[in-house]
Amino acid sequence: MTSKSGDVVFLVLLFFAIFKNAFGQNLAFRIDKDATSQGYPRDSLSNFTEFARNYGYAAEELTVITGDGYILSVFRIPKGKNCRGRVRQPPVLLMHGLLQSSDSWLDAGPSAGLAFLISDACYDLWVGNVRGTYYGRRNVRLNPDTDSQFWNFTSHDMGRSDVPAIIDYMLKETGSSKLNYVGFSQGARIFFIMCSETFGYCDKIKVSINLAPATRQKYVRSIPIRLLYQFYALIEPLLSSPRELEVSQKGGSIQKAFFFFCKDNILAGTVCRAALALINSYDPGSILTQTIRVLFGHFPGGTSARNLAFFGQNVISGRFQKYNYGTRKNLELYGTVQPPIYNLNRTNIPVVLMYSENDLLVDSKDVHWLSTQLSNLIESYKIKRATWTHLDNCYSQYTKITIFPKISEYLQKYSGLDL
Ligand SMILES: *[C@@H]1O[C@H](CO)[C@@H](O)[C@H](O)[C@H]1NC(C)=O
Ligand SMILES: *[C@@H]1O[C@H](CO)[C@@H](O)[C@H](O)[C@H]1NC(C)=O
Ligand SMILES: *[C@@H]1O[C@H](CO)[C@@H](O)[C@H](O)[C@H]1NC(C)=O
Repeated sequence: MTSKSGDVVFLVLLFFAIFKNAFGQNLAFRIDKDATSQGYPRDSLSNFTEFARNYGYAAEELTVITGDGYILSVFRIPKGKNCRGRVRQPPVLLMHGLLQSSDSWLDAGPSAGLAFLISDACYDLWVGNVRGTYYGRRNVRLNPDTDSQFWNFTSHDMGRSDVPAIIDYMLKETGSSKLNYVGFSQGARIFFIMCSETFGYCDKIKVSINLAPATRQKYVRSIPIRLLYQFYALIEPLLSSPRELEVSQKGGSIQKAFFFFCKDNILAGTVCRAALALINSYDPGSILTQTIRVLFGHFPGGTSARNLAFFGQNVISGRFQKYNYGTRKNLELYGTVQPPIYNLNRTNIPVVLMYSENDLLVDSKDVHWLSTQLSNLIESYKIKRATWTHLDNCYSQYTKITIFPKISEYLQKYSGLDL
């Protein structure tokens, strides 16, 4: 990828981001009940329970409320359609990445989506969602459309509140004292933040399996993503209304435009594939055109400008550190001029890392650094397919042969029939 082509994609994204307020209402890609007749694939229009049920998987929808009032939809597949034996214990929590949602684990379909594969391997699977996504766009006090404070969060808060609330709910509901964790990208980041910032929660996890973990962001190679992060780090202090503070939501102009164009078979296989490759790098044949048509029904799924700014700050500082409020407020909040770094040495439970050299969003150098910070690293596994990209972890048709065996190996090792 050249930086020139990266710039073009970024400018297009930026254009939509900036002008979405100006013409967001007029730029109507009408998606209604009859959308399948307009060429939208059924799965792209389904929510988690509908999607899973369409393939014969009984999914339940649950509601978790965080300590600070965010209302999150969490999904559970207690037993996969192809699980023949007894379900193993403890339950497994699967966490999506930045701008994704639980649905990202279904988009590749029943032969490749990790939600299908893990539940079919007889695990009691829970699929989480974080605040700011379309499954986490509610709060007991704050209105996301009118209260700016709703959007005053970063992945710090997801690690400190969202994951612990989901864990509490899971353990209470299942009666288990522990669980296993599988996190992708930001989904892994918030696991490490939780271990650094809360007491007792890390210990509730038997093994944490981290796909392309986004902790330190020093070597992010994707030019559009670097620019996007840094752009938000720069402008975030200038934003004030909820419309500006919510970024790339489902139903917003970016998602609707991609959804509209990428539902078409030809465009999905060419333009949309190329757009993904510019951001994410290219792995020939890995992501099916059908998956591209489906995934843009659920992606991007929304977050806060402040969260993107937080990633931007990490890119700029090259450190896995807390939010930088500026000298005065840092001194007041942290007692130091520089924000403190996260204490990775508080992650003392067994951890597995999985990474790839062709991942432009989470560079293997940052993963190597992470591996040196952990006191109980079990394995840092380089994915065998050399062309494996960041988004392949969710959307590739090859997950069953590239990443699932390793995930399965460790889930099995840390599970049993009666625990
Ligand atoms: C998913 O769709 C079903 C059926 O249309 C609906 O009952 C349910 O409320 C939806 N769930 C969410 C979280 O949107
Ligand atoms: C956002 O929350 C932080 C504390 O988490 C607070 O110090 C700050 O004033 C809030 N910012 C706004 C704009 O409300
Ligand atoms: C853990 O990491 C923090 C931050 O890097 C450091 O200050 C602290 O000394 C470390 N503690 C131990 C026991 O290594």
